[in-house]
Amino acid sequence: MIEELSKIIKERRTHYTNDFSDVPLSKKNIETIIENALWAPTHKLTQPWKFIVLEGFHKQEMGIFMANYYRKVFSIEDFSDERFEETKDYAKNASMISIICKPNPRLPEWEEIAAVSCAVQNIWLSCTAMNIGGYWDTGIATIKYVENNLKLDDNEKCLGVFFLGNLKNNLSEVNRKRKPISKKLSWNKK
Ligand SMILES: Cc1cc2nc3c(=O)[nH]c(=O)nc-3n(C[C@H](O)[C@H](O)[C@H](O)COP(=O)(O)O)c2cc1C
Repeated sequence: MIEELSKIIKERRTHYTNDFSDVPLSKKNIETIIENALWAPTHKLTQPWKFIVLEGFHKQEMGIFMANYYRKVFSIEDFSDERFEETKDYAKNASMISIICKPNPRLPEWEEIAAVSCAVQNIWLSCTAMNIGGYWDTGIATIKYVENNLKLDDNEKCLGVFFLGNLKNNLSEVNRKRKPISKKLSWNKK
């Protein structure tokens, strides 16, 4: 079992939406993934999360919003017309799960954000186990889109959007190396 878990952890990768095929994910897929998110640990069992799937016109509107936002932020040379058009289609093949944190005031906010991050890791690992690609997008444009389009309560924060989709066939392997354990683990004995 640990071998299987280690394999999934090490195979998990960030996949952007151009790696997604046009075969949409089913609601069942998304429910399986979110069910696993719900089992993440939380201090005092606060479960400070809400997951809102952005459907229908959100796909077009998210792309248009991102394209316009980045055009404003970058100079024209850095954000060509071609890139503008591509960005408009950014979410075309993606499912989008907005990640909302509603921190419990009885706890330090960082603990609640850490708990939501544990839930996102469950989402990400579940995707890998199901051969679904995805990544956590915390870009300003993405968060602004959610804040502008969903009615969040004052004490709710959008922590980004998890983009996910069925992977195209024959993608080349992405190798994002990690520093060796010798650099990150030490033993302090007293
Ligand atoms: C909290 C968090 C926020 C992230 N936000 C973004 C993002 O806004 N845009 C992006 O391209 N990748 C984002 N990523 C993905 C990282 O860039 C990616 O995990 C890292 O490069 C390692 O690659 P890997 O996931 O394939 O191992 C985020 C990851 C985390 C954990």
